Amino acid sequence: MENKKFYITTPIYYPSANFHIGHCYTTIIADAIARFKRLQGYDVFFLTGTDEHGLKIENKAKEVNKTPKEYVDEIVLDAKDLWKSLGISYDKFIRTTDDYHVKAVSNIFNKLYEKGDIYKGYYEGLYCTPCESFWTSKDLIDGCCPDCHREVKKVKEEAYFFKLSKYEDRIRKLLDNKDFLLPESRKNEMINNFLDKGLDDLCVSRTSFTWGIPVSFDKSHVVYVWLDALTNYLTALGYETGDDDSLFKKYWPCDLHLVGKEIVRFHAIIWPAILMALDLPFPKQIFAHGWLKINGEKISKSLGNYKDPREYINTYGVDAVRYFALREVPFGNDGSFDEEYLKQRRNTDLCNTLGNLLNRTIAMTYKYFDGVITNTKVNEDIDKDLIDSVTSLKEIVENDMSKYNVSLALEDIFNVLKACNKYIDDTMPWNLAKLSNYDRLQTVLYNILESIRICSIYLSAFIPDTSKAIFKQLNTDKTTYDTTSKFGYLEDNHKLGDGSILFERI
Ligand code: MSP
Repeated sequence: MENKKFYITTPIYYPSANFHIGHCYTTIIADAIARFKRLQGYDVFFLTGTDEHGLKIENKAKEVNKTPKEYVDEIVLDAKDLWKSLGISYDKFIRTTDDYHVKAVSNIFNKLYEKGDIYKGYYEGLYCTPCESFWTSKDLIDGCCPDCHREVKKVKEEAYFFKLSKYEDRIRKLLDNKDFLLPESRKNEMINNFLDKGLDDLCVSRTSFTWGIPVSFDKSHVVYVWLDALTNYLTALGYETGDDDSLFKKYWPCDLHLVGKEIVRFHAIIWPAILMALDLPFPKQIFAHGWLKINGEKISKSLGNYKDPREYINTYGVDAVRYFALREVPFGNDGSFDEEYLKQRRNTDLCNTLGNLLNRTIAMTYKYFDGVITNTKVNEDIDKDLIDSVTSLKEIVENDMSKYNVSLALEDIFNVLKACNKYIDDTMPWNLAKLSNYDRLQTVLYNILESIRICSIYLSAFIPDTSKAIFKQLNTDKTTYDTTSKFGYLEDNHKLGDGSILFERI
């Protein structure tokens, strides 16, 4: 039987400056979800990329005397390097300047025009350059852009429009589907702030700059960046590219668009309307996460309040950064990024709870049994409790991950690791050795190591390098997901690998 498919996307990022920890946050979460699905046996397609057109990029490039393409090429190179350092396991990286995408967007625009869902008119209104967004006066907050709170400019020009208003009722119905947009609070926001105010048709072309995809039948216009950007989710799979579209046939509709809360409107209202106009099925789910903040403010390129994420990776290690991003912020809410918290999380959870547990257990196994373990299967109540909590973890983690609650999933895994530490304190293996109670000592050490093995399989989705290092120290190839539901896969007379410190204390 073919594996079930899972198509997951991150937003495509603006390469207007090098990426910061906020971009890493979205991407690390998407990566953990993708890895977890792969672990469960899904056939996963994980897409990320860059959104390279628009006035903002054109201006940025001018400032440094580069062509827009030269400008974004450098940033994309750096972004790919950053994703590599973070162990991001994407299957495809799309750039909106890729030839196939340019061709497909042009085809999609023509298709919608021929269908009558795009028409020519006049645009008179307000434009926010940093957000590449058009607004009406009723959208503004204190006369400024409702997203970034900066000034908007009045513009009037000939333009093409997309008949967004035509799809209002269908979008309302779609949002009523309780699984479509999560968390639930975002759905109410969309209904109150946008649908209830009425949807205007959307301006989808510009003539005031050239860095974009030309409208093929009216070359003075370029396609509005959001139409260009949103369709990446289709074109990356080969839709309307004129090439092989087997990926599109296999993976569309998308299972999960992961997006930040400020771009929900584009994904939950505009994007489904475009898909309706194209007669295509909708994505199954959109999940909006919150922001990472520094001193209460969004970390952002325009505020410049951040360090290169590689500095954190170099100081604390890649898995500490991943762990922090995945664990610290309750999913869907905003959270604080503070280097001090990152250090603390690393020291308490990774170094103490996980690292020391493995290290002292391996050290004792070497000290008392020359590194060889055996499962005596003679279990007392205290052992059975531990074994129960390890084997019931599967259902718990699966339930957390089915809601994309990565932070809770990690908390639940670490609760079991904490239970292992408590088990050591309660069973006191060093005392068993003193009393020459070697059978019992074997049992205790086996139970801890087997618990660590099972936890590490789950952890491979979140902190993959650490998980690999643990398997090496356990010297085991019993690392597949199907070996998590039963206790006892480490063999009798199994010799462990060499122990070494997983996380030096910082
Ligand atoms: N190019 C558009 C997306 C088009 S998708 C078809 C865009 N790019 S962006 O670079 O500005 O932002 C991309 C993603 O990064 C958004 O989901 C945004 O929420 C996320 N983040 C940027 N800064 C962030 C934080 N400080 N914290 C968490 N995520 C944030 O929007």
